[in-house]
Amino acid sequence: MSGTLAGASSFPHPDDDPVLGDIVVSQEALERRLAELGAQITADYAGRAPLLVCVLKGAVLFMADLARHIRLPVELDFMAVSSYGTATKTSGVVRIVKDLDIDLGGRDVIVVEDIVDSGLTLNYLLKNLAARNPASLAVCALLLKEGQQKVEPDLAYVGFRIANTFIVGYGLDVAERYRNLRDIRTYIGSDGDDS
Ligand code: IMP
Ligand code: MG
Repeated sequence: MSGTLAGASSFPHPDDDPVLGDIVVSQEALERRLAELGAQITADYAGRAPLLVCVLKGAVLFMADLARHIRLPVELDFMAVSSYGTATKTSGVVRIVKDLDIDLGGRDVIVVEDIVDSGLTLNYLLKNLAARNPASLAVCALLLKEGQQKVEPDLAYVGFRIANTFIVGYGLDVAERYRNLRDIRTYIGSDGDDS
């Protein structure tokens, strides 16, 4: 194939990639926890057809796997937001880049998020979605960074509570890379900066 991208020719095994650190959440732990979350959602929404709203792009792997553990007629929709800020910190100013296709009026909506850090992105999203008159609005976050939120976010479902380190894998990226790792790992970076 012609055409090369930086780093495209070498993709070391994650264990041998110098910018990746320890496994924070293993593939096996993810699989176990997703089955639990799916069972919990199935019980909580019995008799209803919830609409899962995936916040692109980080939550796409999570939602795809979670949806298969929910034994209900779910619907899936996607939205993309971009938050102004640096590569690793959100400013709280959020813009909708891709909106939902499905009308939320009267629906039981579950927002599926990859990670809640400052909580600013989620805060903005919830305000925006609540204004569309859903019957109910809940959040299922795969990860919650402990102690980073000014106000404790109202999360109906949380996969894992983790310490404040920058992580990648299973949907989470740094500069769009590492989303396809099966485990969630700490990101060390080439200059050792993990801020
Ligand atoms: P918040 O608005 O500070 O809660 O940031 C939430 C968003 O920042 C998440 O949806 C992620 O896209 C991104 N983010 C926060 N922490 C990490 C991380 O450790 N790794 C990768 N992305 C992160
Ligand atoms: Mg995200």
